[in-house]
Amino acid sequence: MTALVPGTFDPITLGHVDLVARAAALFDQVVVAILDNTAKAPWFSAAERESLAGAALAGLGNVRVDSFTGLLVHFADAVGARVVVKGLRCGADFDYERTMALMNRQLAPRLETVFLTGEARYSHLSSSLVREVALFGGDIANCVPPGVIEPLRARAAERKRGRHHPDA
Ligand code: PNS
Repeated sequence: MTALVPGTFDPITLGHVDLVARAAALFDQVVVAILDNTAKAPWFSAAERESLAGAALAGLGNVRVDSFTGLLVHFADAVGARVVVKGLRCGADFDYERTMALMNRQLAPRLETVFLTGEARYSHLSSSLVREVALFGGDIANCVPPGVIEPLRARAAERKRGRHHPDA
């Protein structure tokens, strides 16, 4: 059975890696589905996010990374996935996720959303918080995979200098 782990992954964090590894242990194939949405003004382009996630997840043989635009249910259909896996860190995540799960069910009744709980030590991590810490020079080494540390520091420095062009 193929499962999708969708998200923005701007950038991938250690919490994401933990979630994908848990999904990979449960399902035959896992497709990490990166939303290519410029409306969210991501720090990293979809291609950059795909490459950072691909490198971080390279050790998981049944995982591949792809990007999508439009509705998740259409992408799930296109790759033959019947399951969407989401991580829950806290109650607020559930409030947000349940509305998406119910909307996705309305759109595609056969697509199930499954929630997994990740490692407690990552439950405070989010890409947005990690970007903020990086922007102001905090240490993000324990928050993101090793290959993301330098690209994130470099992008933070560019943004601090105001030299980053969003569609790069
Ligand atoms: O990492 P994020 O930003 O919490 O991920 C959100 C994501 C990408 C899973 C969600 O925004 C999504 O599925 N977007 C695709 C558009 C879509 O299908 N919208 C209707 C879902 S209810």
